[in-house]
Amino acid sequence: MKILVINGPNLNMLGIREREIYGEKSYAELCAFIEAACAEEGAECTIFQSNHEGAIVDRIQRAYGAEDAIVINPAAYTHTSVAILDALRAVALPAVEVHLSRLSERESFRQISYPALACEKTIDGLGFEGYREAIRYLAGSGGADRKRASSSAGGDTCFVHNLMV
Ligand code: DQA
Repeated sequence: MKILVINGPNLNMLGIREREIYGEKSYAELCAFIEAACAEEGAECTIFQSNHEGAIVDRIQRAYGAEDAIVINPAAYTHTSVAILDALRAVALPAVEVHLSRLSERESFRQISYPALACEKTIDGLGFEGYREAIRYLAGSGGADRKRASSSAGGDTCFVHNLMV
């Protein structure tokens, strides 16, 4: 199985940016963690990071017919990008959204996720471990979970779930 892991803007600054929120570890360490998590599942992995919305849309489109599943941390584009949502819907690959921080405990503008509408699952607040959980869910050992969850995948529930009331 081929998994594409996409990381959005400023995640390349891990270990430097807002360490009290995102931790001390660097982006290179995150990539090593993701590679190890994919290897544990016997999955092939490609990691892509960009600070540019269009580049992320282009990379999602390139996954069509080339990769089997997507793990995406759209970072700040989570809260603004209909283009990333549409790209995920266009390729229609199984996708899981990951965030390092716990969005429900942060500002109100972080309570909306557009890409979540095209994702089977959103995992937040677990730091690097969230990526492992997403990979396991997509690649196999989380398969039972996946069958249960996928019947409600991509509905408005994902979106409303993240709205602050
Ligand atoms: C983030 C959360 C986003 O709100 C923020 O803009 C990020 C990182 C996370 O991983 O916790 O850049 O996606």
